[in-house]
Amino acid sequence: MLQAYRARIFHFLDDPSVLGKSAWQYFEDGVLLIEDGRIREVGAAKELMPQLNIPVQHFPDRLIVPGFVDTHIHYPQMEMIAAYGDQLLSWLQNHTFPTEAKFADEEYAAGVASSFMDELLRNGTTTALVFGTVHPVSVDVLFREAQRRGARMIAGKVLMDRHAPAELLDTPQQGYVDSRKLIEKWHGVDRLQYAVTPRFAPTSTDAQLQRAGDLLQEYPGVYLHTHLAENADEVEWVKQLFPAAQNYLDVYDQAGLLGRRSVFAHGVHLCDQECMRLKQTDSVIAHCPTSNLFLGSGLFNLEKVQQHQVRVGLGTDVGAGTSFSLFRTMGEAYKIQQLRNCKLDPFYALYLATLGGAKALDLDRHIGNFSRGKEADFIVLGAQATPLLDFRLRHLLDRLKLAEQQEVALRDLFFVLQTLADDRVVEATYLMGKCAYRRGGV
Ligand code: GUN
Ligand code: ZN
Repeated sequence: MLQAYRARIFHFLDDPSVLGKSAWQYFEDGVLLIEDGRIREVGAAKELMPQLNIPVQHFPDRLIVPGFVDTHIHYPQMEMIAAYGDQLLSWLQNHTFPTEAKFADEEYAAGVASSFMDELLRNGTTTALVFGTVHPVSVDVLFREAQRRGARMIAGKVLMDRHAPAELLDTPQQGYVDSRKLIEKWHGVDRLQYAVTPRFAPTSTDAQLQRAGDLLQEYPGVYLHTHLAENADEVEWVKQLFPAAQNYLDVYDQAGLLGRRSVFAHGVHLCDQECMRLKQTDSVIAHCPTSNLFLGSGLFNLEKVQQHQVRVGLGTDVGAGTSFSLFRTMGEAYKIQQLRNCKLDPFYALYLATLGGAKALDLDRHIGNFSRGKEADFIVLGAQATPLLDFRLRHLLDRLKLAEQQEVALRDLFFVLQTLADDRVVEATYLMGKCAYRRGGV
């Protein structure tokens, strides 16, 4: 089946921090042609329209971009987002663990999974790497919900065998067996993939981390998803718990947990040695700005990980993060770099939320831009969704029409969206060419 959508269209072909202007394509009046859920072609309307003999869905004044990729989020924490008064370790004890205990109940978990998927799609997020809870059923219900909607999702059951309430603990063997069952049931089914998910070093014994390493060996292609060097007290605690390790990352390294499909959330407090090892092993950092600000964890050194050429993605980290919106996430990422006296280029930020995120999750063969053959996950943005955005963008949008002003105008547009936009600008979200969300109902 062929489908065609006409609007402004923007996407990245590569990393704009390396290739500048040749890293992206923009069509002021563009057409996105989709065949059987995959991209067939993207181009200027004046070239493509004459060849088309199918109805074209026209979104005048709207901007189509690839669906957003959230490289770190916790679905069970949706109901405790915005919990007052704590930094990481007491926040886990006071808010997170009591909430996650409820996910032993399948019906309850299924309700949250459904609301969670609604919220992702409302915000234009089409792929995410997601924490469940320690309960295997928490992952079953999320995968079922993602599968029903046709979303590309990676998720896993938490492994946690110490330093948490008894009802949230597994054992190295039970965690291993439960993860194995989930991998065999879900990994590679439709658009779903599994991530082995030790919560973080303090809540796993060495024995459990080793079992996680066994799973990665036995099932090449599954992901590793955990937290790393988020908070100063946490880093200190890891030092005490693992005195033989050279640094925090080394705890995971010793268990064989580093690699191309290993995603470490945060990395706010990394030394050069850790950055070098992340690069050597092609491991990934998920930068989670709204969470780092909310929990007072610190200011992420983006320059340093870039200098070390470590792969980076953006994560919302809900419920420590304060928004599902990748726009809000990009906006806070900019402010964090401001506080470090660095600049985050709006093109690069949008790259991280799309193709860069796809690369971070090793999914750029499938998603991230509008290259021929990729899965057609895209969003339709109404940039003037609020009175303030409308006012701010009034003159800017005209400048997009002038070729010589286009790059500057696009940078301004993206920056305004990153500073002011949220779910209200997302008019529709498409998964493999099918509308999965439309603002105000279908
Ligand atoms: N470190 C260990 N668990 C968590 C969690 O649930 N959220 C965040 N932000 N950091 C963690
Ligand atoms: Zn997290």
